[in-house]
Amino acid sequence: MLYLIDTANLDAIRTCCEYYPVAGVTTNPTIISRENSDFKTLVTSIRSIIGDERMLHVQTTATEAEDIVKEAEMLRSLVGGKFYIKIPITKEGLKAASVCKSHGIGVTMTAIFTQPQALVAARAGADFVAPYINRLDNIVSDGVHVVEEIVDIYRLYSLPTQVLAASFKNAEQVHKVSLTGAHAVTINPDLFDTLLYHPLTFYAIDDFAKDWENVYGEKKVSDLVK
Ligand code: G3P
Repeated sequence: MLYLIDTANLDAIRTCCEYYPVAGVTTNPTIISRENSDFKTLVTSIRSIIGDERMLHVQTTATEAEDIVKEAEMLRSLVGGKFYIKIPITKEGLKAASVCKSHGIGVTMTAIFTQPQALVAARAGADFVAPYINRLDNIVSDGVHVVEEIVDIYRLYSLPTQVLAASFKNAEQVHKVSLTGAHAVTINPDLFDTLLYHPLTFYAIDDFAKDWENVYGEKKVSDLVK
């Protein structure tokens, strides 16, 4: 399962790429608007931080197929590299998805809440679908279960579309999604930190340091193997 980060904050992207195994960045209009800065500069800066090999998913704000395709073309030329246009799952979006694919543009169909939406998106040629876990959980549905069934359906029909689960609020949701065989998750940078957190890890590191110091004092491994 790949990890992407769901943010347009340049500092956070820089830090995550330095420390974590980040396969790419996803954005949407809400995430972009949080940065309240020049859009063109923002997306090109994201690309220069992550490089051409990591994925960059940028969402269209157009609603008609023709306009979505136009935005996809423009964004692809602007950011280059591994680029995916994020298109919400609507009738116009599906039409645009097929055209984008025929033009060789990567497509992520987003705002997915049901299994049938995901199957239709796959048949339209989407590379990824992005089901929203926490938003489903918030309405007493079961986001993880929806992802599980989407993964099963894709396997059943040997569809190449990958599941990029989105909208997470806690580590348990990410863990449960990892058990479904989903191909990727996109999470906010804070959640990445949370995935690593366990108090016993800190206690263990502390104990190692104390035990070492009792015998070797201030000396480090590097001092002793010189
Ligand atoms: O990528 C979609 C995701 O950003 C939605 O997340 O936290 O707004 O439900 P959230």
